[in-house]
Amino acid sequence: MIAVNVSPDDIVLVAGATGGVGQLTVAKLLEKGLKVRALTRNPGKVATMFDNRVEVAEGDILNPDSLQNAVRNVKYILCCTGTTAFPSDKWQFNSNWNWFEALFDSQKLKQKAANTPEKVDFIGVTNLVNAAPRDLKRFVFVSSCGIHRKNSFPFSILNAFGVLDAKEKGEQSIINSGLPYTIIRPVRLIDGPYTSYDLNTLLKATTQGKLGVVIDTGDKVVGETSRIDVAAACVECLTYTETENKVFELVNQGRRPQTIDWQTLFTKLTN
Ligand SMILES: NC(=O)c1ccc[n+]([C@@H]2O[C@H](COP(=O)([O-])OP(=O)(O)OC[C@H]3O[C@@H](n4cnc5c(N)ncnc54)[C@H](OP(=O)(O)O)[C@@H]3O)[C@@H](O)[C@H]2O)c1
Repeated sequence: MIAVNVSPDDIVLVAGATGGVGQLTVAKLLEKGLKVRALTRNPGKVATMFDNRVEVAEGDILNPDSLQNAVRNVKYILCCTGTTAFPSDKWQFNSNWNWFEALFDSQKLKQKAANTPEKVDFIGVTNLVNAAPRDLKRFVFVSSCGIHRKNSFPFSILNAFGVLDAKEKGEQSIINSGLPYTIIRPVRLIDGPYTSYDLNTLLKATTQGKLGVVIDTGDKVVGETSRIDVAAACVECLTYTETENKVFELVNQGRRPQTIDWQTLFTKLTN
């Protein structure tokens, strides 16, 4: 297993830095003394959230022009963006909708919304891939389990409004780009932050000793995944070349050791 330290001079761009996984990812990067740029639609929120310790780049992944400044000179992109699988305020409706429409005319419903899974998880991710510098060292993407099980329960329900279709297309954009990548697929996410926390709380976030971490491939696992472990995987994978151009699932199972040995976990990807 080859370990390569991320240079403290390299800029790491975190897209979705205000989200649950994104906040924890930024905190992990800062803990390691790395240089973080946060891509956000909400610059004021990010400045206070991380005690002004990150560079802020205002941008929307649905607007390619807004990404030019954000990606300048970055060496790593960690993409933790997302929206809800089912209709919600996060879809940003431009007119009224109701559940009748959602159940019987989901296409029409999606046309009324600016930030659907198709837009964020496919078009937005593709925009970010296209904007990325060609000398990027790694594009890390938080995807989802179930992409290859869309016809089986519970993923058939989860995919009712196309979130798994969009994640799959987002993954393909990354794989086809020729950029070095790592795609991480959690199962159902657990653990906070459910709302914005301060930096100290983020740095001390724990899973309260719940379960160990298991890495698998082939989209077979079931269960739950801690956001804290997803964030750690996003950051730890940058150090190990064996995680380059790999797609893997992450799930919490078994007894949790004192410390998670990411190096040993990643050896599973070399078989
Ligand atoms: N929930 C689950 O059980 C589950 C399971 C498997 C995988 N996942 C995936 O795991 C990832 C992280 O989940 P999470 O719960 O941490 O997500 P989250 O809290 O909902 O955060 C989503 C982030 O994406 C950003 N975002 C949304 N639309 C954007 C746009 N158009 N341009 C720029 N940024 C945008 C949001 O920024 P704003 O602050 O500007 O809104 C926010 O920072 C997501 O990709 C999700 O699909 C979730």
